[in-house]
Amino acid sequence: MQLHQLDKSVKILISLVLLCLCIGLFQGYLYLNLKSSTSSTKVSAVQSIQNKFFVPKTPLLEYKIKGSMRTYFETEEDFKTMLTWVKKKGDDQFYETKVATIVEDSCLDCHAPNEKAYFADYTNYSNLKDTTVFKYRPYLVSMLRKSHPHMLMIPFLFIPFSILLFYSPLIGFKKGFLMNAPYVFILIDINAWFATMIFKEAAIFILIGAFFQLILFFINLFVSLYYLWFYKPTQNKA
Ligand code: HEC
Repeated sequence: MQLHQLDKSVKILISLVLLCLCIGLFQGYLYLNLKSSTSSTKVSAVQSIQNKFFVPKTPLLEYKIKGSMRTYFETEEDFKTMLTWVKKKGDDQFYETKVATIVEDSCLDCHAPNEKAYFADYTNYSNLKDTTVFKYRPYLVSMLRKSHPHMLMIPFLFIPFSILLFYSPLIGFKKGFLMNAPYVFILIDINAWFATMIFKEAAIFILIGAFFQLILFFINLFVSLYYLWFYKPTQNKA
């Protein structure tokens, strides 16, 4: 049984599922765009990927309070105090007298169990202290937190197409390529995240991987729909 021979009800079912995937992908794209469109400074795609993945050799805490956590300090003074604590490599005495109240007032709303940033629970002092010296480990944990859902979920976006193409009249290299290539580009993309932590230059592989995933998504979509609805087999082949 091939795609063009399926019952109309099944063709409609498949098309609706593909439509859901398409709209889901579009919504995800829109979400990421609207969420991060606050910065007006123009940087190239490769640069913005580098900013996101490359790990500067600074403690995680310094990196975050100078970056995305900056806005949560109540005063500039608090920010400077915490930075001093990082420079003192997480000195316990200094924490007790100066930093503890800042963390309580400004950070623990999110950095506590069952809160928004539960994965970095700073009600546990040693978790916070860990971020005051440079180590790859917390960066790696942070990256793994984001990478594993991608690695586990994105293949499921492509599996419907691979199955549909298997039941298409396509043959040979073209068929094998369209069925299998998306997963190669997923592997390139996600694993380059880790390479980019250390080598900025690897960001280009993230871009290449993501670009071809998107292209193959739409190629596979159109090829599947073509064989489902428009393909007419020639008589002499049948
Ligand atoms: C409104 C909620 C919120 C507040 C308040 C907040 N954070 Fe965060 N924090 C987050 C979220 C969400 C993340 C994960 C996303 C990210 O890394 O940007 C995070 C990540 C971090 C990380 C990296 C943790 C990791 O393992 O990846 C550090 C360090 C951090 N915050 C420090 C602070 C400090 C210090 C304060 C107080 C000055 C603070 N945060 C206040 C929500 C918050």
